[in-house]
Amino acid sequence: MLAHDFPDDLKPFLAPTPGGDMGYDCLVCGARHAPDRLLYTCPSCGGLLMLTDHNIDRLRDKPGSFWRRLFDHRLMLNLPALRGVFTFHEFLAPNIPLSDVIYLGEGHTPVVKAPSVLANMVGANFYVKMEGQNPSASFKDRGMAAALSMLNHLVRKQNLDQVIAVCASTGDTSAAAALYASSLGQAVKSAVLLPKGKVTPQQLSQPLGAGATVFELPGVFDDSMKVVERLSEKYRVALLNSKNPWRVLGQESYAYEVAQSFDYSLLDKVLIVPVGNAGNITAILSGLLKFHRASVIDGLPKIVAVQSKRANPVFLYYRQPLGDRYYAPVAVKPSVAQAAMIGDPVSFPRLAELSALYEREAGLSSFYVVEVDETAIMEGMLQANRHGLTVCTQGGECLAGLKAALGEGLITPSETAILDSTAHALKFVDFQNAYFEGRLGSEYGVATNPELANRPRQVELGQAPIPEPGKAMAPEDREAFVSAAAKAIAESLGLAEKA
Ligand code: F0G
Repeated sequence: MLAHDFPDDLKPFLAPTPGGDMGYDCLVCGARHAPDRLLYTCPSCGGLLMLTDHNIDRLRDKPGSFWRRLFDHRLMLNLPALRGVFTFHEFLAPNIPLSDVIYLGEGHTPVVKAPSVLANMVGANFYVKMEGQNPSASFKDRGMAAALSMLNHLVRKQNLDQVIAVCASTGDTSAAAALYASSLGQAVKSAVLLPKGKVTPQQLSQPLGAGATVFELPGVFDDSMKVVERLSEKYRVALLNSKNPWRVLGQESYAYEVAQSFDYSLLDKVLIVPVGNAGNITAILSGLLKFHRASVIDGLPKIVAVQSKRANPVFLYYRQPLGDRYYAPVAVKPSVAQAAMIGDPVSFPRLAELSALYEREAGLSSFYVVEVDETAIMEGMLQANRHGLTVCTQGGECLAGLKAALGEGLITPSETAILDSTAHALKFVDFQNAYFEGRLGSEYGVATNPELANRPRQVELGQAPIPEPGKAMAPEDREAFVSAAAKAIAESLGLAEKA
C-alpha cells in the first residue's frame, strides 16, 4: 500500500524516527549505563543487565487503539526495515534509526490452528506459532535482527571495523548469529563455540555455510558458555548470547505478534514456551508487560514454561514455596529437546525479576513452570508432525507441556493455548529417525511406540530389470520395471484396480 493511501491520522507515524531514552539497567546494583556501547554485564558490579526505555510512559500518551491500528497498518507498508521485528519499533529498540536496521525476513511467522482431531486427542484447542519459518529456521533470528541492527548502528556511528562477534550455542543461536553477521560483510566476523556432538548436523552446517569460524569444545552448552563469558570479559569481542540485552528486545516481538494475531485479546489465552537459557521466556514476559501497560492488549495471558526433567533448574526453582525459593544449577542429562538442554541459564536473574512483576500485574495464577519426560516430548513432536504442524523437539516439549498443564489442572480445556514451536522440525530430524529406528533407548530412555514409528518400505521387484544411474534402459526393460514396481506398490497399499 502506498503511504498516501493510509489514514491521515496514521501517516506521520508510519515510519518512526529514533526516540525513547534507552539505557542499560543493572539488576544487581541498579546502576544505569548509556546505550552507546555494547555491554553484557554491569561495569560497576558485574551484574546482569536489562535494557529499558526510561521514557516509555510517552507510549501511554496515545490510546491502545492507536497502537493497534498503527501496527496493523504497518503490515501493509512496503518498508523493509519495518517488515520484521521492527514493526514494533517504538516498543522494541526505539533508539535505532531505520537506516541501520537489518532485515533478512525474520518475524511475522504464521500462527496455525491445530486440526480438531489433534485438539481432541490433547483435550484443548491450541495454535502453534511456527518459529521454524524464520530465515535460519528458529526464533533466534528475532534477537539477532535487533542485536545486529544495534551493532550495525555502532559500527557506522563509531567507524568500527573488524568486530569479532562471538557466541556459545546449542545450535540455533550460532546459526542465527552467523547468518546476520554474514549480512554485514567485512565489518563483522562471527565465531561460534559449540559443544561437540551436542548440536545436530543440520545446525552445525548453518554457521559453516555462513562462513563463521566454528569451534567445537568438549562438554555441554554450559561449559562453552563459560568460555564465551571469559572471552567477553578479557578480549574485545561483541557477545551475541542472550546476555546481550539487545537480543532480548528483539525477541519481545514474539509477544507483540501473538497479540496481533489474536486481535490484541489475550485474556483467555495461555502461552506455552520451552525454556533453556531463559532468554525467550524473559523476552515474552517483558513484551507482554509493555503492551499491557500501554493498553495495547486487553489483559495478560497465562504463561506455562516447560522444561525437560533432564534439564530443569527453572522448574525446580518455581516448585518451591513463594518467598522461600532457592536457585541452583543442575547437571544436565541428554535430552531430545537438545536446544534447551541447559543446566545454568544465564538469563535466570532476569526471569526471576520479570516473573515476579508479571504475577504482580496478572495475578498469582498467571505463571507456571511444568516439567515433562523425554517420551512425552518425542510423542508430542511426532503427533504434531502427523497433523500438519512441522514442530521441532522443543515444539513437542510444548505440546507435552500443554498436556501436563491440563493434567495438573493449571489450565482448563476452555482456555486456548498458543505453543511456541521454536525451530523447524528438519533441524531435529535425526531425533525423529532415531526414534523410528528404536535408537533412543539407552541414552534418552525413550522407547519407540510402534504406532508412531515410520520406516521406508523396500519394493520387491523379483526378476525385473533395475534402472541404474547413468545407463539408458531399453524400452521393454523400462516397461518391465515400471509394471513390476507399480504392481508391488499397489499390493503393499491394498489398491483396488480400476474397473
Ligand atoms: N528452542 C530452541 C529451538 C532453542 O534453540 C532454544 C535455545 C530454546 C528453545 C530455549 O530458549 O534459551 O531462550 O530459553 N537455544 C539457545 C542456542 C540456547 O544456543 O541456540 P531459551
